[in-house]
Amino acid sequence: MIYVIACVAAIAGLLFGYDEGIIAGALGPLHAQFHISPLQEGLMTATVPLGALVGAVIGGWLAAPLGRRSLLMGAAVLFVVGALICALAPGIVVLSLGRLLLGFAIGVAALIAPLYISEMAPARIRGMLVSIYQLAITLGILGAYLVDFAVGDSWRLMFATAMVPGAMLLIGVWFLSDTPRWLVLHGRRQEASEVIAQVHGRGPADPAVAGELSAIEYAARAETSTAGWHELLTPLVRPALLVAAGLFLLQQLSGINAVIYFAPTVFGRAGFDNAGSQLLATVGIGVVNVLMTLVAMALIDRIGRRPLMFIGFAGAALSLGLIAVAAGTGAAGLQWLSLIGLVLYIASFAIALGPLPWVMMAEIFPLRLRGLGMGAASLANWGFNFLVVLTFPVLLETLGLAGVFSIYALVCVAGLVFAARYVPETSGLTLEEIEAHLKAGKPFRSLAPMPKAA
Ligand code: BGC
Repeated sequence: MIYVIACVAAIAGLLFGYDEGIIAGALGPLHAQFHISPLQEGLMTATVPLGALVGAVIGGWLAAPLGRRSLLMGAAVLFVVGALICALAPGIVVLSLGRLLLGFAIGVAALIAPLYISEMAPARIRGMLVSIYQLAITLGILGAYLVDFAVGDSWRLMFATAMVPGAMLLIGVWFLSDTPRWLVLHGRRQEASEVIAQVHGRGPADPAVAGELSAIEYAARAETSTAGWHELLTPLVRPALLVAAGLFLLQQLSGINAVIYFAPTVFGRAGFDNAGSQLLATVGIGVVNVLMTLVAMALIDRIGRRPLMFIGFAGAALSLGLIAVAAGTGAAGLQWLSLIGLVLYIASFAIALGPLPWVMMAEIFPLRLRGLGMGAASLANWGFNFLVVLTFPVLLETLGLAGVFSIYALVCVAGLVFAARYVPETSGLTLEEIEAHLKAGKPFRSLAPMPKAA
């Protein structure tokens, strides 16, 4: 059963990555067919994060009344419809509207899927499942790049293929039930007990099942005083909000989606002058992203969040700096220096800046405010994603590759300072230990795992 849940997570992550990545290969053929200004290009590309921003807010709001399962199914339908609109679009206005709808579906799914998993999964493997979600995002991006590469100039086919994972999500969710927690909140105790029994592979009369059910009922009773957004700003919770939203701000302003959404354009600027080699290099970026996410999964609980974060920000700052210097000085071999720089950048991103904000946002908020806190962090994710994607084509035109990448490099330097000053070490700690530290009003940064007794 738990594997089915992991699959749902994976499909939602796949869709997220797929719809992000597909535009990279579509931009070339779209430019060949329509006259598109840099601002229009930015707008058309940024409709996905913009739609996602709205989807995250509305999804968070409807999760309680409608249920996690219904919302995931609704999102899956929108994925299919949005992909169809994009594939049949007569021009870039309709295409942008289709992408807005896709973005909305991503926003809903990207909020509900992790929520669904965390409410379903046994605590001991929750962290691993969150990282699987990021892995699926990277696989979705790679899948999109491969499709871009395989179908040549047919941008309609590129968008049409996005219907496949959408339909997979619809079929997958069809067979799942809602989470025990949501069922309890809606007075469906018996069903809740059956779902818990299924997840644990035990009979409904098993004491462990009854124990979990009463823990959920207890927590549900405590929830009758509805948590409000303003509580995220109270002195005890603010440090968690700062870390979660700050990490997403830095993740996005490090320029990741300038690369993910516009990789062939970037390679074009760096001297790869035919579309085939640009797309091949882009596929290479997708592969490194997947492989290094696997490395991150192996390291995240072993060497800890903070060391990984320092490696990530330092590597990203250096590699972006390398590309900026090479592009700014017109260095001989710019093509290869940029390729090396981009590979190192993606590796640094994937090993830390990619998974860590997702993992940490799910562990640092107190239970009562976890949903709201994750919603606020998602807003930061999509808001800054939108900003970067919208501004990149215009910045590239006005400042050139060297100028834009210098800005992203500086953000990564700021990331080092932010990590040093504000980010706590949470590896090896239970969610309750993290919550107790926060509630005691001690500096959040001083949180660290207890040294193991010899
Ligand atoms: C980010 C996405 C990004 C992806 C790249 C995710 O963690 O939120 O914006 O495109 O990583 O792998």
